[in-house]
Amino acid sequence: MDSYTIRKKFLDFFIKHRHTIVPSSSLLSEDSTVLFTTAGMQQFKDYYLGKISPYGKRVVSVQKCFRTSDIEDVGDEQHLTFLEMLGNFSFNDYFKERAIEFARELLNSEFQIPNSKLWITVFKGEKEISEDKESREIWQRLGIPKEKIYGFGKEENFWGPTGDEGPCGPTTEIHYELRDKPCEKGKNCIPNCGCGRFIELWNIVFNEYYHDRKNNLTLLKKKGVDTGMGLERLAMVIQKKPSIFETDLFTPLIKEIEKNTSKSYDQNKRAYRIIADHINGSVFLAGEGVLPSNVAEGYVLRRVLRKAIRFGKSLNLPKHSLVSLAKIVIELYQDIYPELQSKQTDILTIVQNEEEKFGKALEKGMKEFKKLSEKGYITGEEAFRLYETHSVLVDEELTEEYGIEFRNKEGFEQAIKKHQEISRAGVEKKFGGVGISKYEVRIKKSEEEIKKITKLHTATHLFHQALREVLGKHVKQMGSNITEERLRFDFSHPQKMTLEEIKKVEDLVNQKIKEDLTVEKKEMKYDEAIKSGALAFFKEKYPEVVTVYSIGDPSNPSDKYFSREICGGPHAEETSELGNFKINKEESCGAGVRRIKAILE
Ligand code: SER
Repeated sequence: MDSYTIRKKFLDFFIKHRHTIVPSSSLLSEDSTVLFTTAGMQQFKDYYLGKISPYGKRVVSVQKCFRTSDIEDVGDEQHLTFLEMLGNFSFNDYFKERAIEFARELLNSEFQIPNSKLWITVFKGEKEISEDKESREIWQRLGIPKEKIYGFGKEENFWGPTGDEGPCGPTTEIHYELRDKPCEKGKNCIPNCGCGRFIELWNIVFNEYYHDRKNNLTLLKKKGVDTGMGLERLAMVIQKKPSIFETDLFTPLIKEIEKNTSKSYDQNKRAYRIIADHINGSVFLAGEGVLPSNVAEGYVLRRVLRKAIRFGKSLNLPKHSLVSLAKIVIELYQDIYPELQSKQTDILTIVQNEEEKFGKALEKGMKEFKKLSEKGYITGEEAFRLYETHSVLVDEELTEEYGIEFRNKEGFEQAIKKHQEISRAGVEKKFGGVGISKYEVRIKKSEEEIKKITKLHTATHLFHQALREVLGKHVKQMGSNITEERLRFDFSHPQKMTLEEIKKVEDLVNQKIKEDLTVEKKEMKYDEAIKSGALAFFKEKYPEVVTVYSIGDPSNPSDKYFSREICGGPHAEETSELGNFKINKEESCGAGVRRIKAILE
């Protein structure tokens, strides 16, 4: 049974049981406290809290997920960064009995996985939360002997919330037995043993509690069910493969790597798997408009992409191999995720740029690394210098490969974190508002000059929005610098703008200037600002209450603003003050980033 059929059977089963299909949400999380979507329930969080689901009380989905917590584990039989999560959800509809019955029935009858291969874990109770006896009884009634049902505490059998707050609750997990022989632990070799005998297949969460920001647990008024089963693991079980990388979701990638290296898969499984998983993850992140950078999502993309490049080098893969692999990923998934097809050029450009740019630095960096390794260890300080000068990220993977010790790894990790904060702060400083007030004090600009800067600032907002309308929503502000003469704006976009695009952007800005729109300033809670459509950057750094500038026509009853951004100001009051907008220069400013200089005449 191929993965396409598995997805379909899963969805069909739940449709038959009156569930509505909801498409996967974006990989980039809406929740400002987490970067990525890591679970199917994330897009449904509110429906567990009483908000009425527009899809009804029963839904089913195949959700794209990205789990940074598993990056270091990739290379074994069962871990991935990017994965597809099959899930069925109930919002104040069925609960434990039906959820468990559904799972058992689907596995037994649609996927021919017999009960004899299934082992179960349930919540054994911890602190104020009592034991889940009910699930245990239901499983026994459904034919799982009690010797194969084990209780675990919060660490293993309690899920959520995602981010700082949200629904959560005890879980029951279905583990599949890959080998019938226990490890040397004998009778104590049970699910979660870690020896590889079992694979965790399906997690069924009973959302009964609300976890607030202060770590208080309260009972939810309405109960819900949230389940998640990794498609790749299910495929591994159904296709009877020794790892997820031997399923049809990965074999085309493994074969392509094999074609290009003399090193076999069997001898180099870890490298093959890391490359395959990380190119998969990179394609999906790039497909969401993420660009490699030193902060937030961009850092994660850069990290996985570079790790794939590094392992590609260790297998002596020829230049541009990652681009060919990225093409295969797009082909494999484009029918299910059509955005990969429409973003193909952007994705491939990003991969190619990073391969070229990092490839060179890597050669130098690895030479340096080998030299440093000769003494048998590397220190955190040395590793950080390598990162700063050659962008080589030393991790346990690398030190293990070279059989050396990583001394003061914590110091290194802290330094990296600090480095990211500085990069982030650097970019923030460039955001007009703060920059201008410092400017004013330090250089004592004349009133006339401040006026000019203020107008250019408002023009920057119009320009940013115009770019997004003409080029697409992947355009994100990467930096901005305003003097009294000109604005300079850096933004994410994978290729040079055409003359036609430049003209269109210019025209749109000038049209909005002529429309004499009002610039409205409002203080709002950060979350509300985002909900209302305001653009924001480096989200985790904003204070709770932010200033939002909207440029639009207040007499228009539909509140149709043209631009809305979180910003410190200051701004012009009306766009008609600005004059004529003109783009003077368009150039590259790093991989996937363009720089524009423009003036007001
Ligand atoms: N939210 C749970 C998980 O991701 C079940 O979907 O494991």
